[in-house]
Amino acid sequence: ANIDLVEIRDFLVDLAKQAGELITSNTGKTSYDDKVNSVDLVTETDAAVEKLVATICAEKYPHFEFMGEESYVPGVTKLTDKPTFIVDPIDGTTNFIHSFPFSCTSLGFAINRHPVVGVVYNPFLNLMYAGIKGRGSFLNGTQKLPLREPPVGSKLTLQNALIGIEWGTQRSGVNFEVKTDTFKKLAAEDGNMVHGFRSLGSAAMNMCAVAAGQLDAYWEGGCYAWDVCAGWVILTEAGGRVVGGNPGIWEPAVDQRIYLAVRGGDGSEQFIEDFWDSIEGELE
Ligand code: IPD
Repeated sequence: ANIDLVEIRDFLVDLAKQAGELITSNTGKTSYDDKVNSVDLVTETDAAVEKLVATICAEKYPHFEFMGEESYVPGVTKLTDKPTFIVDPIDGTTNFIHSFPFSCTSLGFAINRHPVVGVVYNPFLNLMYAGIKGRGSFLNGTQKLPLREPPVGSKLTLQNALIGIEWGTQRSGVNFEVKTDTFKKLAAEDGNMVHGFRSLGSAAMNMCAVAAGQLDAYWEGGCYAWDVCAGWVILTEAGGRVVGGNPGIWEPAVDQRIYLAVRGGDGSEQFIEDFWDSIEGELE
């Protein structure tokens, strides 16, 4: 059967607003629990928002699959080729706990494991990003992404880039070493000396910032499908690229965990090669 992606987008935008109300009304009121360690956090609001979203998705689209961060069971929940809502109820939970206004709800939709609709809503700053494969992506309904085109004649290079990074929740081991060594190489005067790093604390917010043309790239190891599915559509429809975050991986699957997201425009292909040359080791 033909699936009407515009209808799905409109449904998800409406749902994101409902989720946003639940998120903002609980700000500053929730206690949190540790998941894997003391920096991997979850609140009651994460679970409440996922329940709301999953319930409404199942009512309206009972034949579609659902994958969400809070109901995910490692080794049991599997992403299939079926039409699937891929949802992070609150992306940026640590921000939510600290009232740093960069949390969002990330509502993606994939067919054949390929992201085709993405809605990312930050209810604190009232930023509604939405994209449909083949139809572009927009901020708040009318502002076409990217919001800012690179200046004419300018070429993206490591040296003129503003790059989104995250420390992640693994604070020891191989991935932590690879990240810290790579950050140092990218930042150092005797390395690539990028303009700067920013950590928005939410994978989806970082991807939307690349889509908007506010960040040039975002590199992450340790994401899940729900962190990237919605942002992937928004970014690629804004002319950007999502590739695997280790050297040589050009076609990442939505269910792998290591990504490099890059804005489009002149120099972006070479930028990916140069970024890969700066990675000290390989993320696991
Ligand atoms: C996390 C955030 C964080 C990123 C992690 C994600 P959560 O999602 O997006 O910025 O570094 O990879 O898991 O736990 O806040 O939903």
